Amino acid sequence: MEQKRSGFSGKLGFVLAAAGSAVGLGNIWRFPYLAAQHGGGLFILIYIILAFTFGYALMVGEIAIGRKTGLSAVSAYGRLDKRFGFLGILASIVPMIILPYYSVIGGWVTKYLVDFVAGKSAAVATDGYFEGFIGSNASPVLFFAIFIGLTALIVMLGVEKGIEKVSKVMMPVLVVLTVAIAIYSVFLPGAWEGVKYYFTPDFSHFSVKTVLAAMGQLFYSMSLAMGIMITYGSYMKKDVSIESAARQIGLFDTGVAFFAGLMVVPAVFAFSGGDPAALGKGPGLMFVTLPKVFESMPAGQFVGIVFFVLVLLAALTSSISLMETVVSIFMDKFRWKRIPTCIGVLIGSVALGLVSIFGYGIWAEVKVIGMQFLDFFDFISNSVIMPIVALITCIFIGYVIKTKAVEEEVELSASFKTRGLFRVMTKYIAPIFIVLILVSSVLEAFGIFKF
Ligand code: PHE
Repeated sequence: MEQKRSGFSGKLGFVLAAAGSAVGLGNIWRFPYLAAQHGGGLFILIYIILAFTFGYALMVGEIAIGRKTGLSAVSAYGRLDKRFGFLGILASIVPMIILPYYSVIGGWVTKYLVDFVAGKSAAVATDGYFEGFIGSNASPVLFFAIFIGLTALIVMLGVEKGIEKVSKVMMPVLVVLTVAIAIYSVFLPGAWEGVKYYFTPDFSHFSVKTVLAAMGQLFYSMSLAMGIMITYGSYMKKDVSIESAARQIGLFDTGVAFFAGLMVVPAVFAFSGGDPAALGKGPGLMFVTLPKVFESMPAGQFVGIVFFVLVLLAALTSSISLMETVVSIFMDKFRWKRIPTCIGVLIGSVALGLVSIFGYGIWAEVKVIGMQFLDFFDFISNSVIMPIVALITCIFIGYVIKTKAVEEEVELSASFKTRGLFRVMTKYIAPIFIVLILVSSVLEAFGIFKF
């Protein structure tokens, strides 16, 4: 039975596929504005420290659990300790919630790419274009269908022939495009102020809030606490070093986020005459501000095309990992075959995705705890369930199966050089921080639905 499980051919395939999951919309669109809002270089510094201590430890733990059990999250936790089957279910709910709305946003990216290619860059840059698009009936559905259909097609091809192959092409292209646009952006007239702003650490921003913002971004960005790294770990060969793979994934993810900031912040500064407020928040930055920025620069249409190709690649490799995780959950649990499972997951995700789409159109009046559907799905998965899963996972590894269980798995391929760091993070530091994130994000939400 276990022999039939498909897998990555080697370390490179594994690292690129996992990095493909980690590098996504979060890196390109969320990291730059978070850094700009939270003290520039200070935020970058805090983020890097957290990524290579806290994020790294959690990633090692998840990959090891996956490889040890050869199962996806829903069954892996229960296999290691029967009482923790519920944790598998909880972790599995997260990708099921995220996949549909992530693909809706992937559809927006696809639409923008098509518009830029069709030479409509000036129209895209006009006020109200984005709102008009997401509020319309047919177009968001069409592009959502294209995006999620493409994702399903690749997942149907399987781990080695689909996911690994695609990641090996897309990820190197993504890196080249990111660095190229960053260089172009830095040399735009007026951009230097932005570069300085991005790098200069503003220590007056040092607060619990900044650390928590970095931490929240870290989970999402490294695709942790949602069973993805467990699933990918279950496809990993026993002779590949978990430690060095986790380090490389972290490096990839952080590196792309860093360059994305260099791509976005200086360009927006050049456009706005040095006003950091122009970086805005939420979808506005990518879908409203950046098209205007492109329109204002030389060769803007071309830069826009390259940018949206890059974002599309990042979003696609992430949605692939989400769908693969959901598919593997059903395959493991019910012993279904890949293709029918993919079709089932596709149908379910389309149904849920439509809810998010209609939340901007015909159901715009409907609100859940004061949020639009898409925002609500985002909130409940990222700010509530994920921290809970991360917290229980740390307790599970630290005190139930004990860190030794993970250490043994890591040592199958190489000696565990960062064992001390792993232990301290998993047992003590990470749980405390996660409780803080959870409390703060729930408090913030309560603040929101007061009015
Ligand atoms: N890590 C991805 C990003 O940075 C987001 C993601 C979340 C991908 C959940 C898969 C699953 O955008």
